[in-house]
Amino acid sequence: MTARLIDGFGREVNYVRLSVTDRCDFRCVYCMSEDMQFLPRNQVLSLEEIYRVGRVLVELGVKKIRLTGGEPLIRQNIVWLVEKLAALDGLQELTMTTNGSRLKTLAQPLKDAGLDRINISLDSLQPTRFHEITRTGHLSDVLAGIEAAQQAGFQRIKLNTVILRHRNDDEILDLVDFVRQQQLDLAFIEEMPLGDINDHQRADTYISNEEVRQRIAAAHPLLAALDNTGGPARYYRMADSNSRIGFISPHSHNFCGDCNRVRVTVEGRLLLCLGNEHSADLRSPMRHNVDNDQPLINTIMQALPLKPERHYFNVDEPPQIVRFMNMTGG
Ligand code: 5AD
Ligand code: SF4
Repeated sequence: MTARLIDGFGREVNYVRLSVTDRCDFRCVYCMSEDMQFLPRNQVLSLEEIYRVGRVLVELGVKKIRLTGGEPLIRQNIVWLVEKLAALDGLQELTMTTNGSRLKTLAQPLKDAGLDRINISLDSLQPTRFHEITRTGHLSDVLAGIEAAQQAGFQRIKLNTVILRHRNDDEILDLVDFVRQQQLDLAFIEEMPLGDINDHQRADTYISNEEVRQRIAAAHPLLAALDNTGGPARYYRMADSNSRIGFISPHSHNFCGDCNRVRVTVEGRLLLCLGNEHSADLRSPMRHNVDNDQPLINTIMQALPLKPERHYFNVDEPPQIVRFMNMTGG
């Protein structure tokens, strides 16, 4: 049996989020500034290198991999990576978080390549507003993408929504009704102070998931669900629907205690916590040792004790984490 990834607080790491690109075809107002600088290509891991990181992590006991971005589906040959990772012995679940813009053509190839589940980000059901929030996106593409994912046979498709006060908080119930009709799941994510954005002051748009939950509960009684998907969301059910409503609440830091996750950026930086800077470079041990995984394994094992106990977020202060979400790997 191989070594297990246990951090300094006794938490076992069995879930890795691999970012495959920092680029995106959208510029969501809470995620990016308008004039984003993206990484030069030589700093970005090749798909073979991303596969190698994934393979080594699975050998070290990782059971679940989520591919993220930026937008993972704008990376060339992403289906190749999905196929290679899906074939790894020991990996129990391969998932992806996408903005859905390219799912219309890619949903079926991804399903065929072995992708197990898919999360799609959607913050508004109103075309004009959707375009304002994403700055470049078109709602019709994403709706077509959702439909294609359903047609391809993906089960338990989950929408991720960031609610911003005065911007889309009047759509909370519309989004719940949409997932009820479409038989999807929905998770609300509180806006996090990652990166210095120029669209709004986060203190003005912040709305707690507790408030969102109460607004939904007034229309649809919510029953706490016992299911745990191994992620940070707390789920609820409704008596008259199969849809689950989840809340990812980084501001109440209620998910740190049983955190089982690390992230790898597309530069090959192992991030030990979403809201802290603790990290280790995997790219150089990998590039300097093309035929020998041991230096890469050693770097990962030595980094694990650096995983902090929890993160602290405060929307009233300038962001302490200058890294944007597209670099962190949503
Ligand atoms: N706070 C909260 N969620 C964010 N996302 C991107 N940036 C932020 C942020 N600053 C979300 C996207 C996507 C998910 C991967 O992360 O909307 O749904
Ligand atoms: Fe792209 Fe997702 Fe960031 Fe929006 S939130 S800009 S879709 S990476």
